[in-house]
Amino acid sequence: MSTAAIHAGWRADDMHGALTPPVYSSSAYAHEDHASLKDLFARRSAGFAYSRSGNPTTAVLEERAAALEGGAGAIAVASGQAATTIALCALLEPGSHVVASQLLYGGTTEFLDDTLADLAVTSTTVDPWDLEAWERAITPATRAVVVESVANPGAQLVDLAAISSIAHAHDVPVVVDATLASPALYRPGEHGADVVVHSATKYLCGHGTTIAGLIVDTGRFDPRRCPERWRRLTSPNRRFGVTFADEYDRGCSGLLAYARAKYVTDFGATLPAASAQQILVGIETLDLRMRKISADAAALAARLHGSVGTARVEHPTIPGRPDAHLADRDFPHGTGGVFALDLDGGEDAAAAFCDALELFTLAVNIGDARSLVCHPATTTHCHLEESQRRACGVGPGTVRLSIGLENVEDLWADLERGLAAARAVSGAAEPEQAVARRG
Ligand SMILES: Cc1ncc(COP(=O)(O)O)c(C=O)c1O
Repeated sequence: MSTAAIHAGWRADDMHGALTPPVYSSSAYAHEDHASLKDLFARRSAGFAYSRSGNPTTAVLEERAAALEGGAGAIAVASGQAATTIALCALLEPGSHVVASQLLYGGTTEFLDDTLADLAVTSTTVDPWDLEAWERAITPATRAVVVESVANPGAQLVDLAAISSIAHAHDVPVVVDATLASPALYRPGEHGADVVVHSATKYLCGHGTTIAGLIVDTGRFDPRRCPERWRRLTSPNRRFGVTFADEYDRGCSGLLAYARAKYVTDFGATLPAASAQQILVGIETLDLRMRKISADAAALAARLHGSVGTARVEHPTIPGRPDAHLADRDFPHGTGGVFALDLDGGEDAAAAFCDALELFTLAVNIGDARSLVCHPATTTHCHLEESQRRACGVGPGTVRLSIGLENVEDLWADLERGLAAARAVSGAAEPEQAVARRG
């Protein structure tokens, strides 16, 4: 993983021997003759014509992402949200049905509930830990199962191998949002996923500089197994004059070819070349960052657990979490830096906690080098129904932490400052008073 993170997709063999993949800042590409451009548009040859659907810098990122995930190919797009949107559009059509975990990033839930509903796609959400619920929810119209490998914000893990075998028994592909784990900690393709999406904005970038998304085909999905079900891939496409499933005979992903030709091009969700380079640079240190961040997050979660004024810490290593065995089985290097805590005293206590922090920055991002905090109920999850928020484990007193690369003792000192402010609002006893009372 760490070698692929440095080398996959790029050798210093351009005109000047550039070690870092250069930013090809060009909207279009010159062609020698009429026949060359004609072949490209007729999909008889590969290459670049116009950067909306492909760019040499972005292509390096795509090759590197595929290598990191052990996949058959990847497409880089303008954001994590674009990755989810395009991956699902490529699998769904009007009348399709999606089964999704109820523990999803708020933007994904909104996309399913609102935009996809407008397009006559229905969805059912299930408790990801209830395997029978996955089985019950799949219908003959189900065309995708959607889950996060580590859920945002409560860091809940899923038994992806079990969910995938249920979905595959019905010939339904599994789409995994792997943003919070990143391929440094968990490669969904090794656990049964068919398609992996990333908000590369987060850990892959690592420094909060760039919005980007990735779609990876893990190489498991083959629409030719159920040609009737996936007619848009297995029959000749009138617009493009090809059958996208033929790509599999060439060792490429038909699904990604279709997604790029149609949705990346039509939606115009193009990743700028400069953004692709920023993500490539970020990926070089991914492995190192994820190990430190995961270890520090687990240490801080353990200290927060049981702190006076903290009702609940949502981290897989906290005693009593039903997914502890999955952390042991599938996440040998940790589960990343995002977790949640629920403060006694509701929104007022959460507000006091956030406002008292000096090192953690109040911001709606995760995966930055800087530690960040946010209040999901009034920000990332504010457009959801109250019942949906509850199902995501987001209450009025929930705050999300994204642990960065600072010194862990400095972070703990800051969190203690936040807890004291929250206690002042909720009326919980200070630690010394609590000990005296217990004594
Ligand atoms: C798990 C997850 N998936 C997808 C997204 C969307 O990514 P982006 O903001 O890059 O569009 C986010 C954003 O917070 C996220 O946390």
